[in-house]
Amino acid sequence: MKKKIYILNGPNLNLLGEREPEIYGRSSLKDVEKSLNKIAKTNSLEIVFEQSNHEGELIELIQTASKESKGIIINPAGYTHTSIAIYDALLSSKLPIIEVHLSNIYKRENFRHISYVSKAADGIISGLGVEGYIFALKALINKI
Ligand code: DQA
Repeated sequence: MKKKIYILNGPNLNLLGEREPEIYGRSSLKDVEKSLNKIAKTNSLEIVFEQSNHEGELIELIQTASKESKGIIINPAGYTHTSIAIYDALLSSKLPIIEVHLSNIYKRENFRHISYVSKAADGIISGLGVEGYIFALKALINKI
């Protein structure tokens, strides 16, 4: 069976490409998924790529990932700065975790400088746009 990696995206990322393109870029989430699938294919991996606008749904996905996958890449979007529940779910997954942000959260409003998720992450990529997901996947492949 192929190794699985979960790639999870939080609220409003379904609007990627249309939403504040000067900050988040013009690629859609489908474009991101396609590029990641190409890398997965050449590495004989399976990717589960999901987006949700709901905190509980993201937590359920993390719990499923912890049972059936080798690692998680997560852009928790707005929940990065608010969700202890997502942090707890990531901690209990015991998987390697990479946190990704399209924008450089440290260059933006003060409330974005705090990430509850980072404490559970093995690595963070912030500010490199959609390429951040590609770097995260390559890093995770090397880790697992
Ligand atoms: C984001 C940064 C968050 O602060 C914001 O709420 C998002 C996207 C990013 O990818 O840059 O929705 O996670």
